[in-house]
Amino acid sequence: MKSKILVVDDEKLIRVSLEDKLTKEGYAVTSLSTPTEGLKSLQSSNFDAVITDVRLPKMDGIEFLREIKKLSPDTVVIIMTAYGSIENAVTAMKEGAYDYVTKPFSLEELIIKLRKALIHKDTIAENILLKQQVLNQYGYDNVIGKSEAMKRVFEIINTVASRDTTILIQGESGTGKELTAGAIHYNSNRHDGPFIKLSCAALNKEILESELFGHEKGSFTGAIKTRRGRFELADGGSIFLDDIDDVPLEMQVKLLRVLQEREFERVGGEETISINVRVICATKKDLKKLVQDGKFREDLYYRLNVVAIHLPPLRERKEDITLLVKYFIKKYATRQNVPIHSISQVALNVLLLYTWPGNIRELENVIEHAVAFCTSNEIIPENLPGNLTGGELPTSVFPVELSKVDSINLQETLTDVEERLLLWAFQKTNGNQVRMAEILQIPRTTLQNKLVKFNITKTNIVATEQS
Ligand SMILES: Nc1ncnc2c1ncn2[C@@H]1O[C@H](COP(=O)(O)OP(=O)(O)OP(=O)(O)O)[C@@H](O)[C@H]1O
Ligand SMILES: [Mg+2]
Repeated sequence: MKSKILVVDDEKLIRVSLEDKLTKEGYAVTSLSTPTEGLKSLQSSNFDAVITDVRLPKMDGIEFLREIKKLSPDTVVIIMTAYGSIENAVTAMKEGAYDYVTKPFSLEELIIKLRKALIHKDTIAENILLKQQVLNQYGYDNVIGKSEAMKRVFEIINTVASRDTTILIQGESGTGKELTAGAIHYNSNRHDGPFIKLSCAALNKEILESELFGHEKGSFTGAIKTRRGRFELADGGSIFLDDIDDVPLEMQVKLLRVLQEREFERVGGEETISINVRVICATKKDLKKLVQDGKFREDLYYRLNVVAIHLPPLRERKEDITLLVKYFIKKYATRQNVPIHSISQVALNVLLLYTWPGNIRELENVIEHAVAFCTSNEIIPENLPGNLTGGELPTSVFPVELSKVDSINLQETLTDVEERLLLWAFQKTNGNQVRMAEILQIPRTTLQNKLVKFNITKTNIVATEQS
């Protein structure tokens, strides 16, 4: 699409020559002689750029510029000033003009400035779009969950996002640690600042030190130029240090200092660098245990653990599975452009019964796979990866690892176990109610009531029974 340019000048000769040149260059040009006409035009259509004289009849060029910026803030403005009136140009730039030319100017010079201005405008628009995409990706909307555990996580994010507290996120692989860290950053006052990530896994002391703090040119073989570290890059924003448990002991002291003083030196450097950074850490391990085993410094542990977020494994928050399944179906059906909108109860049962060692990441992959293999508008067990449907039945239905909790809701846990046992029996017998009742040692009417209670629908079970 052609960029639209508005030219405003009361000198006819200038208008005509500009219109001619710009049209030849491939722009769509409107040229007018007064600011009043110019503003009218800006009200009715969008222009990418305005090129205007500052000395105009009826309205001063600077006043005109202010009105343009009010009406259409994204339009870039280039000012034409008379030779010797540089102060006009300075005022115009302060008021938001992108650039200026001094009369008499060459048309080539003006074209170059215009091209630059239009690139600048596109870059700004792209940045806004990118920021919006990032916000969509990390906003709360994309952190799904209604379990008690996730409600607690949302509460914590709500309370502490806008404060600068250090946060430690703990959870098994794929439980959403990085997603949560992003949600904290993008919901904090620092959301316009950088969000810098570094995984500390398997990095030796030297590499980690240089990654975190940067290095001066020549500080070691291979340091051919000065490089800023992640802490410096995160200045004004947040740093996400993943796999924090893997930081070697001798580096832990240095990390402690940054957390306490917010300052450090680059490797091989003498200058002390101060930064303003929010620190978010994550680990898959039990840091407290590492402290007890002497593998992690206790003082650092307390510095990091100011606010702790525990993301429980998916098998401990089964009520989130259905919600996540729906969310991922929507996500991948849209992405793959297919009209899939639901999942059969039987297929859902398979997912509810599975133990999800890879947690939400694994569930997401399973749904992506299922959507790709689904040929109707509903996902059925045949669409799920073989390891889920043909796989083994769970060896335990007790959902909670007791060593990891201080308290437990007895009633909720019993109900959860009951549902899991029903799903297990369903799976084991292919939904045959007579056998299910036998296995669970309950009367068939009791079984039927329970199946209704847990919404393990009768239709599905009857259908399977007949086959
Ligand atoms: N609550 C959630 N709602 C929606 N999607 C989620 C949720 N938690 C995790 N995910 C998705 O699951 C995938 C894994 O999440 P993430 O990378 O944050 O996990 P992680 O804990 O950092 O994993 P790892 O320990 O392996 O690095 C991502 O695609 C993420 O978007
Ligand atoms: Mg991660």
